[in-house]
Amino acid sequence: MVIELPADLSGDEVLRFIAKLRWWARVNLRRVIIVVASAKGGVGKSTIATELAYCLDAVLVDLDWDDGGASRALGWLHEQRHRSPLLDALDSGRTPRPIRGGASKPDLVPAGPTLEANQPSADRMCKALIQWAADWDRPVVVDTHPGGNAPADGAKAAAHLTVTPTTLGLKQMEALNGFAENHDGYNLMIAPNEIVYQVWADPHLERIAQIAKTYEIPVSSPIPEVKWLRSRKARTAVCSVRTMPASREELITAYAKVAHQSALRALQATEDAA
Ligand SMILES: Nc1ncnc2c1ncn2[C@@H]1O[C@H](COP(=O)(O)OP(=O)(O)OP(=O)(O)O)[C@@H](O)[C@H]1O
Ligand SMILES: [Mg+2]
Repeated sequence: MVIELPADLSGDEVLRFIAKLRWWARVNLRRVIIVVASAKGGVGKSTIATELAYCLDAVLVDLDWDDGGASRALGWLHEQRHRSPLLDALDSGRTPRPIRGGASKPDLVPAGPTLEANQPSADRMCKALIQWAADWDRPVVVDTHPGGNAPADGAKAAAHLTVTPTTLGLKQMEALNGFAENHDGYNLMIAPNEIVYQVWADPHLERIAQIAKTYEIPVSSPIPEVKWLRSRKARTAVCSVRTMPASREELITAYAKVAHQSALRALQATEDAA
């Protein structure tokens, strides 16, 4: 069953759509794995992974060991823990129990900084994620550390879809092109992030379209740049508001659209594989 995006998506209608998408994904995206990865750091992976996981009511598996990652932003502080839930699960061979996010954040499996020195092989990470998704019987969204590393490689190998965000800039375009080139045969979707609409003729947007065409990669709806996101303190998903504030409508609508597009692409991949 495919879920349609309402023609007129505005205000609280967007929030109703997200509620519906969460319900739909729990029924239709069970065991589906969506990974967020990029060659370049700081392009919005953790933010997008958190919002995608929230909008799809997925378990968020955080494979980034840096402090700027999704777990910390959601309030999980490794300083207060003795152990890494993710490494414990890998060591014991048991499926981790996600930390419940309730109504305002996604359920979470954090890794913490010790993952850096204890990286599992790509093969082990891939098999573990597939097993966990099956045991949870839920959709799974994975955030990754930027660049080439074994956990990210394993996650991409397990993924039905890899969303690769990019911001606009020369280095970002080089990194995006390299990422596309190195991931031939993967099911990718480019997510343009921090887009300023006034800059309608930004040459980097044309470069994204060119890369997308060359490597036959779909491009999601753009995510706007919103300055307040950088200093936001709340440890919740942006999309979890109960009523729509005008100041957030553009951003939340964009995340809802990207989540919807990711869901349909990933679902299609499972059907193609069947
Ligand atoms: N659409 C946006 N508008 C404005 N700021 C944004 C947007 N998306 C992300 N940011 C900000 O950009 C910074 C980097 O975002 P984020 O941590 O999600 O990137 P990342 O790709 O996960 O980084 P890293 O590679 O270090 O893991 C953060 O401060 C975040 O708040
Ligand atoms: Mg990150």
